[in-house]
Amino acid sequence: MEDIFSLKGKTAIVTGGNRGIGEGISHGFASMGCDVVIAARDTVKTGKTAQEIRDKYGVEVLGITSDIQYEDQVQSMVEETLDAFGRIDILVNNAGINIRKMPHEYDASEWDQVLDVNLRGAFLCSKTVYPSMKSGGGGKVINIGSMTSIFGGAKLAPYGTSKGGIVQLTRSLAVAWAQDNVQVNAILPGWIDTDLTRQARIDLPGLNDRVLSRTPMGRWGLPADLAGAAIFLASGASDFLTGVALPVDGGYSVYL
Ligand code: NAI
Repeated sequence: MEDIFSLKGKTAIVTGGNRGIGEGISHGFASMGCDVVIAARDTVKTGKTAQEIRDKYGVEVLGITSDIQYEDQVQSMVEETLDAFGRIDILVNNAGINIRKMPHEYDASEWDQVLDVNLRGAFLCSKTVYPSMKSGGGGKVINIGSMTSIFGGAKLAPYGTSKGGIVQLTRSLAVAWAQDNVQVNAILPGWIDTDLTRQARIDLPGLNDRVLSRTPMGRWGLPADLAGAAIFLASGASDFLTGVALPVDGGYSVYL
């Protein structure tokens, strides 16, 4: 029972794992003995994060340069992972972007870009890892949603649509792959201090104060705050849990 959260001998792919929330989750997995594949666009940043995690925890860490918008790059990411580790136990669909504008200000290409990374990318990664999870006897897919999976925002039309869609994708995959012992769940982070939200604080004056007063715990989350929920959903501790969307938000989603 003491090993219920252990990830020893397992291999995880974390998309966008070179910084922010993905980096926090990658550290968490490595701390539980998991080998980690960091798949992101910036090769230099990916290499640096991979080295830091390798040095700190002594697990294998592979950095892969991959843009999840493109099917061929997702395919290569999965093939490289299988060549290196021979198995994929965990996939975290974390890579995400936002473009903040009023709905009528977006052009169609901006809409497509956000949906292509945040939703289509998660779908492509999931469907591409699935065969190896099934043949390996099971697996865990963890999708990263948002408070915008459940709340609306004026400058969030494509982002909120993608993050609402992530929850429905989670439920569909959970049901579809339940018999294959593949559990699919989502984490809905509250406001977390990362590059993404540093930009939001520039784009949206007053955001910092609003986050502090609107979050019952009275602080921004840190990337490390996501590690515990991700370890739980990646480990044997959650083997009978599938299709849920778990807020990790300092109480934001239950505060009237
Ligand atoms: P970030 O901007 O710090 O990191 C995003 C990561 O995704 C980077 O590594 C980036 O290179 C990667 N990425 C972006 N597009 C990609 C693509 N096409 N292919 C491969 N990698 C790509 O953002 P942060 O804050 O760490 O966000 C991570 C996830 O958490 C995103 O899905 C975001 O929507 C979500 N989220 C973040 C919240 C926050 O408050 N920071 C709150 C709720 C959700």
